[in-house]
Parts: sequence; C-alpha cells; structure tokens
Amino acid sequence: MTEKPVINFGLEGIYVDESAISKVDGQNGKLWYRGYTIEDLSEHSNFEEVSYLLVYGKLPNKKEYEEFVKKMKERRELPKEVMDVIKAMAKDSHPMDVMRTAGSMLAMYDKDLNNKEKDATIDKVITLISKLASIAAVTGRFRKGMSYIPPDKSLGHSANFLYMLTGKKPTPTEEKLIDLMFILHAEHSTNASTFSVLVTASTLADIYAATTTGIGTLKGPLHGGADEAALKMMYAIGDPANTEKYIEEALEGKQRIMGFGHRVYKVYDPRAKIVRKYLEERMGQNPSEEVRKLLEIALKAEKLMIDKLGKTKGIWPNIDFFSGPLYRSLGIEGEMFTPIFVASRMSGWGAHVVEYWNNNKLFRPLEWYTGPLDVPYIPIDKR
Ligand code: CMC
Repeated sequence: MTEKPVINFGLEGIYVDESAISKVDGQNGKLWYRGYTIEDLSEHSNFEEVSYLLVYGKLPNKKEYEEFVKKMKERRELPKEVMDVIKAMAKDSHPMDVMRTAGSMLAMYDKDLNNKEKDATIDKVITLISKLASIAAVTGRFRKGMSYIPPDKSLGHSANFLYMLTGKKPTPTEEKLIDLMFILHAEHSTNASTFSVLVTASTLADIYAATTTGIGTLKGPLHGGADEAALKMMYAIGDPANTEKYIEEALEGKQRIMGFGHRVYKVYDPRAKIVRKYLEERMGQNPSEEVRKLLEIALKAEKLMIDKLGKTKGIWPNIDFFSGPLYRSLGIEGEMFTPIFVASRMSGWGAHVVEYWNNNKLFRPLEWYTGPLDVPYIPIDKR
C-alpha cells in the first residue's frame, strides 16, 4: 500500500469485537451489565452476584449463588511467599506496583495454568477475584506497618475486604458503600485495561499474565489512576473557597482536571451520578470535617466544570471524581483507590477473557511507517 490509510489514533471509534457483557451508551449516559441497568444492580444486587452475572452471563439461582460465594470465601487466604513479597514491597512501592507483582505471583500456585477450557478459566477468575481483594487489603496494612488481619468467613466479599484493610467490621452502611464501589467498578466494556487484558489473552498466554497486563494498564492517571489523582487535586485545592481559582488556573495552564471527561461518555457518567447520590446521603450522617470539605470542593468543581466544559465540549464528571470523598468517608487512603478498582474490575476482565477465548483471534493492528527505507549501514567506528 502506498497511499496513507485513515489512522484511528488511540483506536478512537474503532470496534474490535462483539460482546454480550456490557453496553456503554455514551450519548445518553447509560450502562448495562448483561442487560441489567447499573442503577438496578447497584441498588439491589451485591458484588458476588454481579461477578457471577458478568462471568456466567446470567443471574445465579440461590444454590448457584451460595456455591459461588463459598468458593470466593475459601480462596481469600494468600500463600506465604505472596505475603512476604507484599511485606518486602509495601513500604517503598505504590500499592499498584505491589498489586501487579503479587497478582502475577498467583500463577505459580496454579497447577493447571494453561488450561483454557471455559470452566477452568472461570475457576481461575474466581480465584483471582477472591485473592486480588486480599492482596489489596494486605498491601494497605503492610504499607502502614500494621499487622495482618485474616479474612472472616462471616463477612461478604467487600465487607471482608474493608475488615482486612481497616481491622474494623463495617457497619451496614459502610458495607453498602464499599460494595457499591465494587459493583460500579466491576465492568466497563473495552476500556484501556480490558483491551490490554484481551491483547495478552489473544496470544494464548495464561489468565494471570493477562491480569498482570490489566493491572499495569489500569495504573495510569488517564484511566484507573484518575481516582487517586482527583483526590490529590482536592487536597491541593484545600479550602472550598479556593476551588474556582484553582480550576480556572489549571484550565488556563492546559492541565487536565482529573475525574472529568471520558472517551465514550459525552454526558454525565451514570456511575458518577450514583456515587454522588450515595455521598450526599452520607453527608446527612455527620461525616468528618475532612469529608465535608472534600465534598464541598467536589460540588463546586463539578458545577464549574459543567458550566465551562460540560455543555460545550462534553466533558462531565466520571466515576473517578466523587470516589475520593466517598472512600475517605470509609477511612481509605488515596493510594488504595486504584487497587480497589483492580479488585473489582477483575470480574469484568475475567468475563471478557472467557468470552474472547470462546473465539480467539490474535490482536495485531497496523502502524503506518513514516521513517526512511534502505538506509546504508555504517560500521560503528565510521559514524
Ligand atoms: N480536563 C480538561 N480538559 C480535558 C479533560 C479534562 N479532564 N478531558 C479532556 N479534555 C480536553 C482535552 O484537553 C482536549 O482539548 P483540546 O481539544 O482543546 O485539545 C479535548 O478535551 C479532548 O481530549 P482527548 O484527550 O483527546 O479526549 P479523550 O477522549 O482521549 O479523553 C480522557 C478521555 C479520559 C483521557 C480525558 O477526558 C482525560 O484525560 N480525563 C482526565 C483523566 C480521567 O479522569 N480519567 C478517568 C476516565 S473514567 C474511568 C476510567 O476509565 O478509568
């Protein structure tokens, strides 16, 4: 080919496959997992049921649900070597780096690593969903020099995560809030990390390799890392009265405001709306001064950004914007936000790998070469 083809930079607007897992309607601000609205799931379901739905493609009956939950509970403990590596890394590494390394180690314990049959893959996904939450919780404790809290089988998945992280059994409200965040982060079509998971899976590498790729991709501040970055921005604003000045100066300096904008949503992200709603309810429950201030800053920034960029450029709050105040109301520090994203998104990554391996094709896009050709080679001592 000599004529330059159309280049879809960043794969913007490109369909790479069909999928029955989730639908993102970016024009109307809607999201469905397997046909169920995110509003219904976040209100009536829980993370275990949502994970089952994503991975198996249907809601479980009571027996299926109980078996699934039992498996998840039985797999929460981490091998000693994984705990040792977390301990060695936790103090000096970002928790996402610990997640990537410790998550990758899990491959070592799978005696059936390369089995890609559907049932075997689902089984590995259940292990990963269960253990990645433990890795996140243990990382959160070890980085603070705190002791290990073993999992508690009387608690559901998200409540147990919070317990292993904080050492306190959550109240019903706290359990609802952390579970809500797990549900909202569980799946989002072919976003950057899911796509990267599929690229690795398409080479027929194992699911741990694919997951490790996903964790690396999710770390970046344009993707999963935006939640931590948005909180940092709110701390930098400090006082709600500074919000307008800060945002205006940042925009004039061509900086991005973290937690705003999305490749697909050109309206308000429905997940952000749900987090905002729960957060406002939480404000009625006598929150700390820090959380009250963060929400005040967030609401001011939201209004400003919508006035400036929402209606004109389609840049609206995304899921990562209100996460900060909500997680802080549960006592979770900013560096732990993206690891929680990993622990929840594992359900979506797993569902996509199961679906993709059903009809695998190696991903191999093209690049239009713009460099020279047939350059004469000059030996190093003549250059
Ligand atoms: N603040 C200020 N300007 C923005 C922002 C923002 N958050 N997002 C996009 N823009 C501007 C951008 O500067 C560009 O302006 P211009 O046309 O004048 O050059 C225009 O909007 C288009 O930006 P783009 O980067 O080409 O658009 P995109 O579709 O590739 O962007 C995005 C998507 C998420 C990378 C971007 O909106 C962004 O950087 N947002 C901040 C990071 C963030 O919150 N990420 C989380 C996304 S949702 C959860 C997840 O997927 O993990």
